[in-house]
Amino acid sequence: MKLFDVYPLYDVTPVSAKGIEVWDDKGQKFLDFYGGHAVISIGHSHPHYVKRIKNQLDKMGFYSNSIQNPLQQKLAEKLGQMSGCGDYALFMCNSGAEANENALKMASFHTGTSKVIAFNNSFHGRTSAAVAATDNPSIQAHINKQQKVTFLSLNDFETFEKTITSGGYCAVIIEAIQGVGGLDEPTTEFYQFIAKKCKENNVVLIADEVQSGYGRTGKFFAFQHHGVQPDIISIAKGMGNGFPVGGILIHESFKPSYGLLGTTFGGNHLACAASLAVLEVLENEGLLENAAKMGDYFKQKAAKIPKIRKIKGKGLMLGIEYDFEVAELRKQMIYNHHMFTGSAKNKKLLRFLPALNITKEQIDEFFEALQKALQ
Ligand SMILES: Cc1ncc(COP(=O)(O)O)c(C=O)c1O
Repeated sequence: MKLFDVYPLYDVTPVSAKGIEVWDDKGQKFLDFYGGHAVISIGHSHPHYVKRIKNQLDKMGFYSNSIQNPLQQKLAEKLGQMSGCGDYALFMCNSGAEANENALKMASFHTGTSKVIAFNNSFHGRTSAAVAATDNPSIQAHINKQQKVTFLSLNDFETFEKTITSGGYCAVIIEAIQGVGGLDEPTTEFYQFIAKKCKENNVVLIADEVQSGYGRTGKFFAFQHHGVQPDIISIAKGMGNGFPVGGILIHESFKPSYGLLGTTFGGNHLACAASLAVLEVLENEGLLENAAKMGDYFKQKAAKIPKIRKIKGKGLMLGIEYDFEVAELRKQMIYNHHMFTGSAKNKKLLRFLPALNITKEQIDEFFEALQKALQ
């Protein structure tokens, strides 16, 4: 059988990894400044993470959500304490798209309405309602186009107010820093305006923190830079450091009922062990502080480099914008300098999404290579 060919691949075959270092099948070392698209939060094969998953696997890898699983409760408590979101309840699933799908569904259950407000250049995943709220018609099939989604510009107060007050909306879904779209952000005033208008109009505010959450921007969640309180927060990527796990944090004002949401694999024992290990490492190694510090260091270094038009993002969710498209530069960084970087819908943006325990020396190596690649 052949693989269904949907991914354009770089010709590199990684076989092992440690921290931000990755080795391919020829024994060549690469530095991972991409983290598999913001997934690797605590570094590849972190010893504590490996040990916790192995120990759990020795005991039991999986059972369904029809039995008691105290690991889920333990995870919810730790997550509540570390994120400052103790007044939310956790529902676990398996990916970012699934998290947003459940968030949108909860919003629709809660309000009895179905229309959604999303933003230009958004990315929320590839499932039914999530892809409909994603600003990319080329990945929406006809079946997805039945959902009613209004796309608005970030930071356009007037159009937002006119739209939300027109009625029939169940949710506003927003990334505090757009990932796939290219690192554009709402201003604090705009995010606060959205939160206020959602409350006034009984519309559910969903913070999509799938990419920007789990400490990546230097705070546990990126919306915390803006002093807002969303109704639902969706999480995935960095949550499992590569183990497929996602979830939504649902504010306590929403009441659960048996059967309202559900999943076979979500919240299984291995997923909980991986997620707990990530939180423990984030806490024990002070990785939120490191993300903020290293993000500042990156920006200082980038400011001294010619040809850069703009530096975007916060913490270690960063991008360098040029006047030219960066596809060729990414190739050079991989093949000539052995460094993985990321891209965005904005083709002029080179993205930097390393594990949160990156060091100054590794950032220095990145800039040395970047300067050589641009000569
Ligand atoms: C902000 C955001 N939301 C949702 C998703 C979808 O996550 P997944 O690919 O795990 O379904 C992504 C993936 O890139 C994302 O960046």
